[in-house]
Amino acid sequence: MDKKITIAIDGFSSTGKSTVARRLAKELGYVYVDTGAMYRAVTLYMMRKVFVSEGNFDEEAILRHLPFINLKFVFSEEKGYGEIYLNNENVEDEIRYMEVSKHVSRVSAIPKVRKMLVKQQQEMGKEKGIVMDGRDIGTVVFPDAELKIFMTASTEQRAKRRYDELMDRGDDITYEEVLKNVKERDFMDSTREDSPLRKADDAVEFDNSEMNLEEQFEKVLKIVKDKIKEV
Ligand code: DC
Repeated sequence: MDKKITIAIDGFSSTGKSTVARRLAKELGYVYVDTGAMYRAVTLYMMRKVFVSEGNFDEEAILRHLPFINLKFVFSEEKGYGEIYLNNENVEDEIRYMEVSKHVSRVSAIPKVRKMLVKQQQEMGKEKGIVMDGRDIGTVVFPDAELKIFMTASTEQRAKRRYDELMDRGDDITYEEVLKNVKERDFMDSTREDSPLRKADDAVEFDNSEMNLEEQFEKVLKIVKDKIKEV
């Protein structure tokens, strides 16, 4: 049997990381972990408590409440991947709302939030056979991952993909609002002090602006298979 490896996929928002990562995990029989969902779930918790809202960001209260947050992924047969549960409640859909997207970069810039989630992510991946996507997987969570992929695509292309997704769900939003949010998050995620988004030196850069999902998947799968043969 092939040796199981760790696959780290990083990149800006809406580069299609999770779509490729999920399919890859399914194809290889690996576990898939969407770390963005974890930062979103923490943000949702803080928004419900009103520690985070338009015009309010109570970092002290956020830190005090971190120990009360329990996150887990539960595999959904219907979806084919693990959905995120916040204190035993399935919040997979709610965390994708624009309101959460607006606040998540700020919450995820708090070092203690990162420390807590990174620890849980390292725990989930200790057996290998994992595909994890996020911003700091190849640089911080698994610096020794056998394969690191850094996904990129043009800002407009990413905003268009995200807008189409939200429209499919029936959200009431304009393309301009989505583009603005994508740009703001790009800026915050790559300029924060603690583990900013950057390409790991040994990551393979993968620009998918001009590729459809099928092409992306085939290309990434080839990179993965070559790597598995090599290790
Ligand atoms: O992948 P996503 O867009 O769902 O991620 C939501 C936010 O979470 C993103 O704007 C930054 C943050 N994030 C992070 O800081 N580190 C990660 N490993 C994953 C996400």
